[in-house]
Amino acid sequence: MGFPIHRMRRLRKTKALRNLFQETRLGPGDFILPLFVAEGIKSPVSISSMPGVQRHTLISITREASSAAKLGIPAVLLFGLPLKKDSQAKEAFSKNGVIQKAVRILKKETPNLVIITDVCACEYTSHGHCGIIQNGDVANEPTLNLLQKIALSHVRAGADMVAPSDMMDGRVRAIRGILDQKGFKETPILSYAAKFSTAFYGPFRDAADSAPAFGDRKTYQMPAANTREALREIELDIEEGADVVMVKPALTALDVIAKARQKFTVPLWAYHVSGEYSMVKAAEKLDWLAKDTAMVESLLAIKRAGADRIITYWAKEAAKFFK
Ligand code: PBG
Repeated sequence: MGFPIHRMRRLRKTKALRNLFQETRLGPGDFILPLFVAEGIKSPVSISSMPGVQRHTLISITREASSAAKLGIPAVLLFGLPLKKDSQAKEAFSKNGVIQKAVRILKKETPNLVIITDVCACEYTSHGHCGIIQNGDVANEPTLNLLQKIALSHVRAGADMVAPSDMMDGRVRAIRGILDQKGFKETPILSYAAKFSTAFYGPFRDAADSAPAFGDRKTYQMPAANTREALREIELDIEEGADVVMVKPALTALDVIAKARQKFTVPLWAYHVSGEYSMVKAAEKLDWLAKDTAMVESLLAIKRAGADRIITYWAKEAAKFFK
C-alpha cells in the first residue's frame, strides 16, 4: 500500500482536477451580513478598527441591505446603536427604537431578505453589560424579562428571526414563551448557543459602542478552554426551543463546530467575528497577507468544520468572490 501505488498529487495536477475534487464549496447563500444602524448620525460612519464596515443611517442601511440581497446574500443580522443609554436598556425595546425602525424599513424595502435581529442589551445599557446589574454582576432572571421585551419588540416590528446573544441561562425558553404567548409561534430563534468570552470581539465593541464599563463578560460568556461545556450550552438551547444554534467565534472554536455538527441535527451557524475579520484586514493592509486568500481559507475552514452558514463582515466580498 501507499507510494508508489498511491500518489496524492494525481488529483491536484490541474486547476480543473482540483476543482473536480473540491470537497467543500461556498456560495453567496452561505453568508449572513451583520449590519450596524445608529441613531443621530446623518451619514454612514466608518469604524477604524473594522475596515470596510460602517455604522449606518436608516437610509444607508437600506442601500447596503439591498446591495447584499442583489449579491445573493440571504439574510442580514442587525445591531442597533441608540442615542440614549440607561441602566435598564429601555431603548432596546422601545417601539420607535433604532432597530425597530430599521426592521420596519427593511421589511418594506427588501422584503425577500431574511431580517434577523441581535437580541442583547449591551449597546443600550449605560454600563455596557448584557443585562440588568445587581450586586455588581448581571442578574439572570431580571435580564430574562428584559430580553423577552426586546425580542417581542423586534418581532412586532417585523423581524423574521431573533438572535439572543447575551448568554443568560434560560433565555431561549423565556423568549420562546413570550413569542408563543403573543401570537408569534412561528418566528424562529437563532441562539448564540456557544458564545465564548474572547478578545476577538474587541473591534465590534468599537463599532457597537458596547464595551463593559467595569469588569468583563466572563460570568456569562464561555471560557476558552471548554468544549464539553459548549456542547452542553448547545444541547440546552435546543431543548429550550432554539431553531438554529450558533458557535462564536469561529476560527478558535472549529473543534466545537465539528463536534456539534456530529452530535446535533439542527441548523448550525458560525459567527466569524470582528477580531477575526480585522486582523486579516490589518495584515492585508501591511502586505503581510495576500488579498482574498486568507478570507477564502478562513471561510472554507469554517464550512469544512461543519457550519451550515457563516455570519461574516466579509459577506459581500465573499459573495462576489464565490458567485
Ligand atoms: C452582543 C454581541 C457581541 C457580538 C455580537 N453580539 C459583543 C460582545 O458580546 O461583547 C460580537 C460580534 C463580533 O465581534 O463581531 N452581546
